[in-house]
Amino acid sequence: MRITVTVDGTTYLDEVEPRTLLVQYLRERLGKVGTVVGCDTSNCGACTVHLDGHSVKSCAVLAVQADGCEVTTIEGLARDGQLHPVQRAFHDNHALQCGFCTPGMIMQSIDLLAENSDPDEQAVREGIEGNLCRCTGYQNIVRAVRDAAHEMRPGAGPEAERMNEAEMGTQAGVRRS
Ligand code: FES
Ligand code: FES
Repeated sequence: MRITVTVDGTTYLDEVEPRTLLVQYLRERLGKVGTVVGCDTSNCGACTVHLDGHSVKSCAVLAVQADGCEVTTIEGLARDGQLHPVQRAFHDNHALQCGFCTPGMIMQSIDLLAENSDPDEQAVREGIEGNLCRCTGYQNIVRAVRDAAHEMRPGAGPEAERMNEAEMGTQAGVRRS
């Protein structure tokens, strides 16, 4: 089947099998290996990306379901060599150990902050409950998300604007593969 999908600001026209999962398409066709597979059964959240601005587990979405949509992966967040505020907060708070869960955790956290710009600890824990981390005990992850919320509050200046820009993406070109 033919699909047109914009991923991290670039539009792709592609032929895919109807059974191809979005995560397979991202990793195997587009080389977006920052999006990882932890379980393949929609339990771990490691494969989380944004589909039209909302987080989805890309192992639970078919590539054809992304036809006509905009996808943002962990690789589309940084702008002009600057990390997204949530990426930086994870770094600054040591919110990772092996890092395997981190791309999905960050994508989910950004969606959480779009819904609730000032989540308390409980709201953060509930917001990331579909993302599993085997290493950190979650304490620093929660701290990072709350720090990022502080950074990104409306009126917080350039960082808040960068978040919006990262979500909007820029259409840099059209590729056929
Ligand atoms: S790989 Fe998608 S939820 Fe685990
Ligand atoms: S940092 Fe290792 S799984 Fe989360």
